[in-house]
Amino acid sequence: MLVGVGVDIIEVERIRAVCERHGDRFLERILRPPEIAYCRQFRAPFPHYAARFAAKEAVSKAFGTGIGSRLGWKDIEVANRPSGEPYIIFHGKAKLLLQKKNARNALISLSHTEAYAAAMAAIV
Ligand SMILES: CC(C)(COP(=O)(O)OP(=O)(O)OC[C@H]1O[C@@H](n2cnc3c(N)ncnc32)[C@H](O)[C@@H]1OP(=O)(O)O)[C@@H](O)C(=O)NCCC(=O)NCCS
Repeated sequence: MLVGVGVDIIEVERIRAVCERHGDRFLERILRPPEIAYCRQFRAPFPHYAARFAAKEAVSKAFGTGIGSRLGWKDIEVANRPSGEPYIIFHGKAKLLLQKKNARNALISLSHTEAYAAAMAAIV
């Protein structure tokens, strides 16, 4: 059963500019260490960072909460299978929300160009 869907698109430049101003502090507030390590493998990491930002917003929309007091950035972790396929690992409040919604998982798909990153999520 489909519990909720969410979509988000973001300008990569917005993330690059915030990183330039606030450096690692911004990334560390939004992303978990394995997410940062994944993006840092790439010569152009910003589209990957932006995609993770979009993924978390998309999952928060699928939950119907948005990011805030009911769901934090780092409660949602984006990981990748060896094939490259992304999946969500739930922590803290995201785990509780999943139980509350009687759901099992979130399905996610990401896409990025130099300029934009997009994500769609489905809670199932
Ligand atoms: C998997 C594939 C569809 C990704 O599409 P893309 O246009 O290269 O890149 P996009 O920006 O749209 O998507 C990238 C995201 O796809 C996701 N992805 C990667 N491999 C995936 C897979 N096996 N299954 C599902 N999603 C996958 C990842 O989340 C990735 O972003 P991330 O690395 O930041 O996590 C692509 O690599 C592919 O297989 N293309 C078809 C054949 C091909 O190689 N064509 C190129 C010549 S034109």
